[in-house]
Amino acid sequence: MSEQEQVTVPFVRSRKRRNGDDPVVMVTAYDEPWARLVDRAGVDVILVGDSLAEIVLGHENTLQVGIEDMAHHVAAVARARPRALVVGDLPWMTYHLEPSDAVRNAARLVRAGAGAVKLEGGRVRLRVVEAILSAEIPVMAHLGLTPQSVHAMGGYRVQGRQLEAAKVLVEDAIALAEAGCFAVVLEGVPDALAERVTTVLEVPTIGIGAGPSCDGQVLVLHDLIGMSKGHAPKFVRRYAEIGDLVVEAVGRYASDVRAGTFPGEAETYHGSSELREGLGRFK
Ligand code: KIV
Repeated sequence: MSEQEQVTVPFVRSRKRRNGDDPVVMVTAYDEPWARLVDRAGVDVILVGDSLAEIVLGHENTLQVGIEDMAHHVAAVARARPRALVVGDLPWMTYHLEPSDAVRNAARLVRAGAGAVKLEGGRVRLRVVEAILSAEIPVMAHLGLTPQSVHAMGGYRVQGRQLEAAKVLVEDAIALAEAGCFAVVLEGVPDALAERVTTVLEVPTIGIGAGPSCDGQVLVLHDLIGMSKGHAPKFVRRYAEIGDLVVEAVGRYASDVRAGTFPGEAETYHGSSELREGLGRFK
């Protein structure tokens, strides 16, 4: 694929490292400027994740966003017209009831600019996955530590550590891939389990906290650039400290304003001498 060509679902679906393909690079973004920048950096997939809730909107977990929030941010990302494929996350309770609701909500994200949707869960979601796929909307699956299940899991815990749970996850992944999901995100699982799933699937696995064997990797942008608050999970690698740069830059701006050195000559519009004289006659 040339550097200019749009990344498509069939292109992502075809990526398997065992066939010599490059790993899929996926990162989150939630608005136009960041989508523009990560696209310039050459990522393959921009995920408008429901991590929006925590990362951008300041909520405690991902359960707090709805389809309108997600559509709003998918549309902002799509306005960057990225070369990368835009995947929109279906938030909690938008695909848990009737398949027809799930299709309507998935369509909402597609109309906002997504090329595919992502949803969490295994075989329990097959009915909705099939319904969404039958509406010609590509689906990315998400297994393992699924943040929308935070209460059911009793917190954010690595999943599939026990053999029985690992077997369920492998079978879920196979079922979702056979149903037609074009990729499977594996979050918070032991490396050996991610490796097994990657081996048995024909579609790519995209890992986050799932070790190096996956066919691709995803991170939350704000984690990797040093803009998120609190303790980062073990699997995050920080590539920059943008948060510190922002504090430093805005701090210097504040000092300049307080010292009266901003704005200076170069940052000021000057009126004509007539204007200055005329203004002097106003009360
Ligand atoms: O919402 C999100 O950002 C995600 C990724 C962490 C995979 O689902």
